[in-house]
Amino acid sequence: MMSEKTPASKELKGMSAVVTGAGSGLGRSVARGIAGAGANVAIIDINKEEAMQTCEIIKEEMPDISAVDVLCDVTNEADVEKAFATIKDCFGSLNIMVNAAGIAPAGALVDLPADKWRFALEVNLTGYFLMAKHAARLMIKQGVGGSIVNLSSKSGLEASKNNTPYNATKAGEIHMARGWAMELGQYGIRVNSVCPGNVFEGSKIWNPEYMRICAKKHGIKPEEVIPYYVNKTILKKEIKGQDVADAVVFLASDKSRMITGQTLVVDAGQVMVR
Ligand SMILES: NC(=O)c1ccc[n+]([C@@H]2O[C@H](COP(=O)([O-])OP(=O)(O)OC[C@H]3O[C@@H](n4cnc5c(N)ncnc54)[C@H](O)[C@@H]3O)[C@@H](O)[C@H]2O)c1
Repeated sequence: MMSEKTPASKELKGMSAVVTGAGSGLGRSVARGIAGAGANVAIIDINKEEAMQTCEIIKEEMPDISAVDVLCDVTNEADVEKAFATIKDCFGSLNIMVNAAGIAPAGALVDLPADKWRFALEVNLTGYFLMAKHAARLMIKQGVGGSIVNLSSKSGLEASKNNTPYNATKAGEIHMARGWAMELGQYGIRVNSVCPGNVFEGSKIWNPEYMRICAKKHGIKPEEVIPYYVNKTILKKEIKGQDVADAVVFLASDKSRMITGQTLVVDAGQVMVR
């Protein structure tokens, strides 16, 4: 059995990473995973306090890793440019960029307000685009390649009911990644997507209101939502943040050096459409 200290678990040693939405949920798990694999990490979020908390957690768990919180609204290009300037100042270079800042406004097609739809496009598509644009510019300038990962969702592969903005934007993220992979391959920059199944641990998307909407959709009680989804997986297991982080670390590392433009599904075997 491998211990945490084996060289294999430090496959990102000496690298620098940025993770958006890392103040909470999957972004935080991914940032912890990347730091655990040896990379310094910039924690981007619109919630400064929670971004700082993630940094504290990382510093406590991995005192030899540098973690810096960067307040940034990923939908605002001026903010994004400033964030990359800060990252360059702090780390000197950037090897890994993970897009995870996302929202999931639920609602039936016939009821959904257009502003909720537009807001999801802004965060989930424009935010991912702006971060990738400026990460790619920096990586191209450095001339040593890099890895960009879009955290999409199984909903980007298989649509779910009452989820129009999420279905559309999560599918869009996968397809944007494919196009970016084609553009950036010549610079040694790989671009891939990770599609998690339902991850309840630490997620603000899975807030009580979202749980209620979900329960209603399936005709079950809110407290039955987690077992309901666990039961839909082939492995009959609840997916945790670490499971998703491990997939991202793989795609960020040299072990996936021949993998680009691909979609890795981390859903304990729920969705099988490709
Ligand atoms: N939790 C799940 O079941 C699940 C499943 C599949 C995919 N995902 C994807 O993983 C990502 C994270 O989901 P989560 O459940 O951890 O959500 P979460 O709400 O817990 O975390 C999202 C984070 O993004 C930040 N954020 C939101 N808008 C931002 C902006 N404009 N600029 C900067 N930061 C912003 C929030 O402050 C929050 O800290 C999303 O892209 C989501 O679609 C989640």
